[in-house]
Amino acid sequence: MQALTREAMRQATRRYGTPLYLYDLARLEADAQAIRDAFPDPWLRLYALKANGLPGLLERLTGNGFGASAVSGGELLLARRAGFPTALTALEGVGKSTNDLGTAVAGVRAGSPLLWVSLESAEEAAVLARLMEAAGRREGRRSDRDEPRLDVLVRLNPQVRPETHLGLAVGAADSKFGVLTEELPEVIEAGGGVSGPLRWRGLHVHVGSQLGAVDAWRAAVRVGLRVLGLQRASLPDFDTLDCGSGFPVDHGLAGSVPSARLFAAAVHQELNELPEDVRPRRLAIEPGRAVVAGAGWLVASVLHVRSRERPIVVLDAGMTELIRPALYGAEHPLLALTSMGRAVEPASGVGQPAVMVRVDGPVCESTDRLGEAALPPLRRDDLVAIGVAGAYASSMASTYNGRPRPPEIAWDGVRLALLRRRGRI
Ligand SMILES: Cc1ncc(COP(=O)(O)O)c(C=O)c1O
Repeated sequence: MQALTREAMRQATRRYGTPLYLYDLARLEADAQAIRDAFPDPWLRLYALKANGLPGLLERLTGNGFGASAVSGGELLLARRAGFPTALTALEGVGKSTNDLGTAVAGVRAGSPLLWVSLESAEEAAVLARLMEAAGRREGRRSDRDEPRLDVLVRLNPQVRPETHLGLAVGAADSKFGVLTEELPEVIEAGGGVSGPLRWRGLHVHVGSQLGAVDAWRAAVRVGLRVLGLQRASLPDFDTLDCGSGFPVDHGLAGSVPSARLFAAAVHQELNELPEDVRPRRLAIEPGRAVVAGAGWLVASVLHVRSRERPIVVLDAGMTELIRPALYGAEHPLLALTSMGRAVEPASGVGQPAVMVRVDGPVCESTDRLGEAALPPLRRDDLVAIGVAGAYASSMASTYNGRPRPPEIAWDGVRLALLRRRGRI
């Protein structure tokens, strides 16, 4: 498969206009393969749909070694429609509505249970247990033995501070994510205890995203393994550790990032410290950005260039299409596809030297910035591509300022294909 070229990007803009999202399917395949290689079977690899739930991309992951991690009833539906088997789909949101939990219960009653629900609190456990019992009563239970049970994990707050941006860190004690170790008995009791409608299968940890080092991940896994081992005596089915995600993507800007293989090695080192009989029987990860981020581009047109001490380039894409820079200062690579109306190729040297510019979006917010980069001279209608935009770009997009959602296009090495049309006002 031929990788996405700048000419293919320009061609996409001629056909579909700007702004647009463009996905390089060869890159998606390579990044998914890197995750499979680092975490081979029997690891469970659950793709985190929140990173990008575009059906045309999800279809490339189903049946390709990935299950799904959904955070809401809506994402459960997306996963099902894309063809992820229900038995390989987990519900893991930090705050689940009664409707979301009801979807999980309905699956059990229909004989097609989810892989698991990851519980975030005693309240959530109690609601889920009540829903399960109510559904059992409606169906006229004969005995507890006939009653199907729902597999659950408990999301543990491992109380570690990961090496990432504060906005992407979720594993610290004061975060809203997960329960503290000492709260675990309360959650199990609220969910009906060992013989209630929930089957306690293990723990789930996730310290944050885009981790700059493996230390916090390793520390969280260690906490998870310790707590899992302690609970094993009283919970016979407690055999699973979902290690979450956090695998970073190289933005090609400053420094390098640890590979997925390094994260896997850290888990295996921790496991090797344990006697065989207390090791979890199932291990899972739930990568999002590592699978899709690198494959995606947001391509925009220049609207105007203001000459200031540092020139400001205003694009027709901004925080509505890619909110990460405004939300938590994320940095994305920026490159010019044309300069003063002429195509720019990596080796073309378009004549005039690049200068540092600030690249802003068109939205009425002063935080609507995409970053800074050295770019060749630009004028209205020149094209700028923003890289590493396959994750948390389209899935976090809004229509603020009456801006329709951009179309989403795939490049399969030969041709462009429309995966989602431009939205309507
Ligand atoms: C619980 C959980 N799992 C997985 C992910 C996916 O993380 P990433 O996209 O960094 O791989 C997230 C991201 O927010 C998450 O909160």
